[in-house]
Amino acid sequence: MLINSEEYRSMFETEEKLWWYKILHEKVISEINSFSKGNKQIKILDAGCGTGGLLLKLQSTGYQNIKGLDFNDDAVGFSKSRGLDVQKLDITHLQGVFEKESFDIIVSDDVLYQFDDLIIEKTISSIVDILKPNGVFITNNNAFEVFRGTHDIAVGSKKRFVLKDFKAYLSRTKNASIVNHHYWSLFLSPLILVVRLVQKLKLKLNLVDLQNIKSDVEMPSEFMNNLFYNICKFESKILEKSPFGSSIFLVIKKEK
Ligand SMILES: C[S@@+](CC[C@H](N)C(=O)[O-])C[C@H]1O[C@@H](n2cnc3c(N)ncnc32)[C@H](O)[C@@H]1O
Repeated sequence: MLINSEEYRSMFETEEKLWWYKILHEKVISEINSFSKGNKQIKILDAGCGTGGLLLKLQSTGYQNIKGLDFNDDAVGFSKSRGLDVQKLDITHLQGVFEKESFDIIVSDDVLYQFDDLIIEKTISSIVDILKPNGVFITNNNAFEVFRGTHDIAVGSKKRFVLKDFKAYLSRTKNASIVNHHYWSLFLSPLILVVRLVQKLKLKLNLVDLQNIKSDVEMPSEFMNNLFYNICKFESKILEKSPFGSSIFLVIKKEK
């Protein structure tokens, strides 16, 4: 859960314009488009949908069977204010909530970081259960401990991931495997590292007000927003699989 309820308002206000959300939503929708091959009737669930930005984008792309869930009242309220079909549900207790093999695609972006390994493994396994055979689980997550900063405190992050974490979570789930993954953004990594190192230094020096801590979800100037967006676009054009970055994007496929 996000620590501060103002964070949900920030998410709601920025997620259609902020470079980071725009890039992430484009990555997810590109995967969904290549899965759906033009079939806009496929059933999609966004688990931990926040204030509904991705669902809104999917809707404007023409997808008609889209649902969301989130455990937070503010998130559900903001999503509903956008006319989206979102329920208050706990991603860690999906068993029995949806029928087995209900969805073609399940997306869960930046939700798993707040749980312990055993819970993550169990959650991924129940996500796989409610996917149809050949269905796909798309998940973006914060990566590499070196990027830890005050942002992680604000969003309640217990963990930053690398590929081998997901391999371990899936090691006991026999009918699903990682079919694609990459880290991002390599080109913005030096800048993000500097920002997070400064955050860590301020924490060490007790210069941070822990009661009013804020995440990095904030609109920069229009110039910087466009610059960061274009850097990420350029990176995905020239690098098929970036080896490093503050996020890991994975596509996990359920077998027949
Ligand atoms: C960092 S936000 C990401 C939101 C959205 N997926 C996105 O990409 O913008 C994490 C979301 O997970 C939700 N969340 C936290 N714990 C949850 C749980 N147990 N079940 C469902 N959602 C949860 C939070 O309320 C929050 O909206």
